[in-house]
Amino acid sequence: MKLKYTTPIEWAEQAVEDIDSFLQDHADAERKVANMCLSLIAKYPNRTEIIDELIQISVEELLHFKQVYELIRYRGHQLNGVFQKDPYIKGLMSIVRSDSDELFMDRLIIASIAELRGSERFKLIGDVVKDEKISKFYLNLHKQELDHIDSFIKMAKIYFDNETVNERTEIILQREAEVSSSLPWRSAIH
Ligand SMILES: [Fe+2]
Ligand SMILES: [Fe+2]
Repeated sequence: MKLKYTTPIEWAEQAVEDIDSFLQDHADAERKVANMCLSLIAKYPNRTEIIDELIQISVEELLHFKQVYELIRYRGHQLNGVFQKDPYIKGLMSIVRSDSDELFMDRLIIASIAELRGSERFKLIGDVVKDEKISKFYLNLHKQELDHIDSFIKMAKIYFDNETVNERTEIILQREAEVSSSLPWRSAIH
């Protein structure tokens, strides 16, 4: 899978100018992905083939949350309790379909594409941020998130045929490119 919009390096240069705000937003994002996996289990308890994997990803995302929280403290701060709205996820969710099966497929595809975008941007942050400890963390995280991209697509393909999933992925990738390229830059992952 390939993104249809490439984030320019200038995005990262601007984002790291306020690395503390970036970390706050990122901690929030990791916690939300962990929650999302758990809520998929709660909403679709009969999809037993994917429960173990969703639990596993949730654990990994929660670990990322812990690691970002540690970086926040390393920088001398605490979680600030400010939860910014995420116009990116809102933009992507605006095209989900309402039929229960289709919604399930769309959620998994969106999860996969969001991992891909996250991974792309973590690499850029790792490349430009001056602090060595933070840089190392992001370059490593970039690689770890790559595994999740395939995981979510594979889950979708357990329940829907390849072609259907691939066609829908193309449509959502297109939408994702429109959303990512049009959002104003801020010190946040999206
Ligand atoms: Fe993560
Ligand atoms: Fe992830």
